[in-house]
Amino acid sequence: MKEQIEQLKREKNAVILAHYYVPGDVQEIADYVGDSFYLAKIAKQSMADIIVFCGVSFMGESAKILSPDKKVLMPDMSADCPMAHMASTGKIDEIRRQYDDLAVVCYINSTAELKCRSDVCVTSSNAVKIVKALSNKNIFFIPDGNLGRHVAEQVPEKNFIFNDGCCPIHAGISAQQLQAEKGKHPDALVLSHPECEKGVLALSDYIGSTAGIIDFAKNSNSDEFIICTENGIAYRLKADNPDKHFYFPAPCPCCRDMKLNSLENVLTCLMNETNTVEISEDVRRKALIPLDRMLELAK
Ligand code: 13P
Ligand code: SF4
Repeated sequence: MKEQIEQLKREKNAVILAHYYVPGDVQEIADYVGDSFYLAKIAKQSMADIIVFCGVSFMGESAKILSPDKKVLMPDMSADCPMAHMASTGKIDEIRRQYDDLAVVCYINSTAELKCRSDVCVTSSNAVKIVKALSNKNIFFIPDGNLGRHVAEQVPEKNFIFNDGCCPIHAGISAQQLQAEKGKHPDALVLSHPECEKGVLALSDYIGSTAGIIDFAKNSNSDEFIICTENGIAYRLKADNPDKHFYFPAPCPCCRDMKLNSLENVLTCLMNETNTVEISEDVRRKALIPLDRMLELAK
């Protein structure tokens, strides 16, 4: 299957983009593996005719919004991020009526519809920088309440309004579960994704995006880490650091949507050019504004 995929990629001038949470064998055949921010930039810059996006739907949608002339394929169209739907346009309108000098800051883990109604997008790796760069005093942060509160702590000069969405996988990691893992590995450093709840972040030695966690583990002198994010990241952590040890709080955090990506469905969608991401031109143009603003402000 890997050879067939390689051959089709060459024949069709296709590239495979994969997030760190997809299964290891899919990361292995990808041309680019990264966090959401890196993958969005690659999607925009790529010279390929076809992008196969191994991730979840908001990632494929963002790639299509940024690169409308390319064919964007998703190995499994049902791979979706539940948090992407956890805000409403009605609530955005309500908050806009209540506050002057407001910026609606939309985590990239969101539907295209929500992006259309937002002022700027962010990812976990650039949210603090971008919020600081905005001139607005009031920030409505959607959809992730946990990431919003984490950003707010680092930008105390602004007034935040939070939304109550969350990632069920990260919010499912409790401080109690983390304490139990720390009890088993008292010397391990705790590296967490900011989608985790406050109690988990308070026990963490490092908080950052998936790429940030990978960099930290690589550059650290420590050789034991407890990782509070989705378990697909273990593939890269182990590949980069064969002598270091990585533990996850039990039960091991697993995003079933990310795991819908497989070699079989990468091959099928590339061979048949099926599962294309389609977005109406009206929605695409509106959703492009906050995405482009993110890319500009994050420079
Ligand atoms: P990153 O941007 O850190 O890769 O996170 C994406 C994601 O889906 C986290 O759950
Ligand atoms: Fe969405 Fe959470 Fe899965 Fe990331 S891990 S794609 S935020 S459900």
